[in-house]
Amino acid sequence: MQQTTIIGIAGGTGSGKTTLAKKLKTAFSDEDVIILCHDYYYRAHDELSYEERTRLDYDHPDAFETTLLIDHLKKLRQGKTIYRPVYSFSDYNRTGDVVEVKPARVIILEGIMIFEDRALRELMDMKVFVDTDADVRILRRLVRDVKERGRSLDSVVRQYLETVKPMHEQFVEPSKKYADIIIPRGGHNQVALNMLINRVRSLLDE
Ligand code: CTP
Repeated sequence: MQQTTIIGIAGGTGSGKTTLAKKLKTAFSDEDVIILCHDYYYRAHDELSYEERTRLDYDHPDAFETTLLIDHLKKLRQGKTIYRPVYSFSDYNRTGDVVEVKPARVIILEGIMIFEDRALRELMDMKVFVDTDADVRILRRLVRDVKERGRSLDSVVRQYLETVKPMHEQFVEPSKKYADIIIPRGGHNQVALNMLINRVRSLLDE
């Protein structure tokens, strides 16, 4: 069986992880390279009301079902198909749907907190941290959350100050030390992107 390479892309909210992951993936076929997001594994909270769910801390490691993600990554490495959960940011809950994910030679794993968990970290062959200034990140997040995640301006500001910023300082920023590569400016750093594309290309040629 061919070996699977797992490339982790971490970084603060709004840093450009998704852009970088998508641009890297676009250079390859769906059979060779897939993207998995830690965000898909946010826990379900059917026991709570919508209002209660909006008040949870989504920037703490416990907000994610990381054990399921680890299990899925191990299965993909064994050449097995998995069914990943689907998360709704507008409902603050899992939808109950699943998406079939077939194994691939290269898995790009993306998320704010992926370097924080030791077992998850140890599955990665290459760890990339996207390092973008905090002012740029919050501006991007504000626009995205209002436009794409159905949030109000007030709720984004409240959440940022109450949980996102303190948890970033406690968990995300310190996890940068585990990175093999640190990429400034996120998805718009063409030189870094080209280096990653070349690395993946040579992995696939092996
Ligand atoms: N989050 C939220 N509401 C939820 C679940 C998560 O607002 N119900 C937020 C968390 O506060 C966390 C963020 O989602 O900070 C994680 O996604 P983020 O990293 O911002 O988005 P990506 O597209 O993965 O990354 P990037 O912005 O770097 O492209």
